[in-house]
Amino acid sequence: MNISLNALLDDLKALGLSEGDKVLVHTSLSKVGMVEGGPKGFVSAIAKTVGKSGLAVFPTLTGTPEDSASKPPYFDVRNSPCWTGKVPEAARVYPGAIRSLHPTHSVAVIGSKAKELVNGHEFSDTPCGEQSPYGILAKSGGKILLVGVNHDSNTTFHTAEEYAKSPFHMLELPALATIVDYSGEARKISVHLHRWGTERDFNLLEEQFIAKGIEKIGTIGKATCRLIESGPMIEIILEALRKDPYYLVVNGK
Ligand SMILES: CC(C)(COP(=O)(O)OP(=O)(O)OC[C@H]1O[C@@H](n2cnc3c(N)ncnc32)[C@H](O)[C@@H]1OP(=O)(O)O)[C@@H](O)C(=O)NCCC(=O)NCCS
Repeated sequence: MNISLNALLDDLKALGLSEGDKVLVHTSLSKVGMVEGGPKGFVSAIAKTVGKSGLAVFPTLTGTPEDSASKPPYFDVRNSPCWTGKVPEAARVYPGAIRSLHPTHSVAVIGSKAKELVNGHEFSDTPCGEQSPYGILAKSGGKILLVGVNHDSNTTFHTAEEYAKSPFHMLELPALATIVDYSGEARKISVHLHRWGTERDFNLLEEQFIAKGIEKIGTIGKATCRLIESGPMIEIILEALRKDPYYLVVNGK
């Protein structure tokens, strides 16, 4: 049976999302059930809930484990598909959405201040750092919504790892990536890349998030969902990483 747009709006409200919120959304839509309007319908529900004064942000990631200085990423903001699911794929072509130009960690944003959030992402020191949409959202009262997925899909953990300069997280050599902007113009930029391959468990701190009142668990359709305050979450992760930089690494150092 289809989950109607109105049912989605009710569930989002019950979870605590409201007009004016800036929210980064990670999704497994199959966990929600069959949604009215499919992935695009789901994007509309988020955009409608936060309204024009809010920001609906979707991770349209394109980075791969093969990216390196010798195999630099190529990114076309208009055409490069993301690997983060059908909802962000629908978001990047949603009417009025703007996608950032970062060649591995772009986001697609809907809302009247979308341009301000995506501006300059490609020049951020690190993909999820202070000047990236992930860092900016955290500093400005942003939230993270995990729909049918757990913290392993929570990209903003990398923001904390980048602040903490986690020793296993970044490749040493930058890469000269090619980015193609909305006008079709291609240019080369130097970017720092994530190092893949170190398994982490991002669910380890969830009890603390809940105990400190910064995470709420609910449901959207049939999916278990989590709504988290991004800034305070990063503070908690940083505290753990200061004590032990390998805290999140599966089997430790
Ligand atoms: C990989 C991942 C996207 C797969 O999730 P998924 O639920 O299988 O797939 P999607 O989210 O792309 O949604 C597609 C599903 O929507 C569902 N769906 C709901 N309503 C629908 C509708 N009206 N029409 C069509 N499909 C619909 C279908 O089940 C569809 O599955 P199908 O294509 O196999 O038929 C998910 O597990 C995940 O990891 N999400 C988070 C990604 C992320 O943000 N990562 C950050 C990394 S740091």
